[in-house]
Amino acid sequence: MASIISRRHVKCIPRPSVEPAAIFGRFSTVLSEHADLGALLDRMRDLFADLREGRAGPTSDPGQLVEEFRRELRKHFTLEENEQYFGTIAADRPELKGEVLRLLAEHEDLMGALAPLQAALQEPARRTELTSLFETFREQLRTHERAENALLREYFDLRS
Ligand SMILES: [Fe+2]
Ligand SMILES: [Fe+2]
Repeated sequence: MASIISRRHVKCIPRPSVEPAAIFGRFSTVLSEHADLGALLDRMRDLFADLREGRAGPTSDPGQLVEEFRRELRKHFTLEENEQYFGTIAADRPELKGEVLRLLAEHEDLMGALAPLQAALQEPARRTELTSLFETFREQLRTHERAENALLREYFDLRS
C-alpha cells in the first residue's frame, strides 16, 4: 500500500462545522455503496467461476462487467474523497486524521490492483488465472472497506 499522501488528499480536509444527523446521512450512502460494490463483486466471482468451468454463455462479457465495476469503484472513491465525507471526520476528530489519510491514499492502489485482472481478460490462455487474481483484488478491497467501517464506528463512538 502507498504511504505517500497526495496534496489532493490533504486539501480535502475541511474546517469543522458538522451536524451529527447530516454526517450520519452521508455515511449511510457510503455504507450502501459498499453493499452495491459487494453485489457487483459477487457477479464477477460467479462469472469467473462459470468461465473456469466452461459454463459461461456466449453473451457473457466479463470485460464489460469488470469495466462496470471499475467505473462504480471510481465513483465511490470520488464520493469518499469529497471533503464532505471522510474529510469531515478528520476535521471534526483530528485524532482520526491519520487513518483517514491512509485510507484515501489506498484508493489509487486499489484502482491499480484491477489492472492485472483486466490484462488477464485480454488473453484467453490466462482465463485460469482469473479466479485467483479476482480473489486477491477482492481481499484487498475488503480489507480497505473493513477499515473504513471500523473508522466510521470509532468516529460515531467518539461523538456519542
Ligand atoms: Fe475508500
Ligand atoms: Fe469505501
